[in-house]
Amino acid sequence: MYINFWHALELATNVTDKPLKVEVLGQPLVLFRDSKGQPHALSNTCTHRGGSLAGGKVNGDCVACPYHGWEFNGDGQCTKIPSLGREGKIPPRTRIDAYPVQERCGLIFAFLGDLPEAERPPLQAIPEEGQEGWRYTVHTWDVACNYERGVENAMDPAHNEFVHPTHGFSGERDDYKTPDIELTRTDWGAGFMATFFAPSLPDPKMKHLKPEIGTMRAGSGHHGPNAMWTYIHFTETSMLHQYLWETPLDDSHTRVFLINYRNHLLDPALDAKIGERNMVVASQDVAVLEAIEPTITPNDMTHENMTVADKAIVAYREALKGWDAKGWRIDSQAVVRNKGRVAYAIPSPGRRNHKSWALDAVPLVTGAQSAQAAAE
Ligand code: FES
Ligand SMILES: [Fe+2]
Repeated sequence: MYINFWHALELATNVTDKPLKVEVLGQPLVLFRDSKGQPHALSNTCTHRGGSLAGGKVNGDCVACPYHGWEFNGDGQCTKIPSLGREGKIPPRTRIDAYPVQERCGLIFAFLGDLPEAERPPLQAIPEEGQEGWRYTVHTWDVACNYERGVENAMDPAHNEFVHPTHGFSGERDDYKTPDIELTRTDWGAGFMATFFAPSLPDPKMKHLKPEIGTMRAGSGHHGPNAMWTYIHFTETSMLHQYLWETPLDDSHTRVFLINYRNHLLDPALDAKIGERNMVVASQDVAVLEAIEPTITPNDMTHENMTVADKAIVAYREALKGWDAKGWRIDSQAVVRNKGRVAYAIPSPGRRNHKSWALDAVPLVTGAQSAQAAAE
């Protein structure tokens, strides 16, 4: 798990003026909307004596702790300590980590890290957002596996044949071979498009898109450690463009958020049916992912055997090494070791401007430690 990337945290409709606790990167956050409806994401641990802010309430533009009523605004600044009385002076060290937020396509995203704005990896692009002729639905589900396993699965052209009966022939044709893939690299990822041989679509409402056995274009790629895209072009004009965020709740639990854009079957009455279809495909992936050993993706490739079909996965693992070298990987083992004894916060951009904080930032694996681990 890494700091310094954008993460999808929650369906926008679930974020209201009632504080909501979410887990991400092994840490608790509180989400709420202020009096103008702006969403905010803060560390959930009150800097007084550790109360859970999500158990409190929203007062105007602030979230109030349920324990002694301290209030914090969307910037994480403590604005009220009731026990000090009206004239009480609020110490700056009461500040709480607050994260930059974006609300896009029905999801709440937060930048979880301390990089200043100019240096932040951008949120994965969603070029269809607001475009005429495209319609989206949003879906979410949980998987009991490491988020990296999920990202790798989405960039794995060889699994379709076996995991998704509608995408391949389940290994029954002896002329099966995964298409060669050419990787395209971006600043924060890599991906590919390829031509697949696939059966017709079984669903009567979708069958017209692919009535015959034959070829279709599809591909996928990653953006940062936890976001990816999948494009499925049934024909040159009928397409699905999917954007996914694999949000690590902790090292072995992941919440997936999918924005599913389509440029056909645009009738809103079909949203539910399309959602159902997406969940059938997702459950086929979940069944395989939850049984993988080890749950947490290995740090090197010596105990697995990659083939040419795993090219994108190898590129992803190399990219992870790059973020290790920047010192962005959370030292999850240290967090787990100290669970119940130390409350951490994911460092926010505010830590670059203010020196003194009540909570320790989550421990990180230093670049030197990961280089040493890779060499061993
Ligand atoms: S613990 Fe939050 S106000 Fe005391
Ligand atoms: Fe899949």
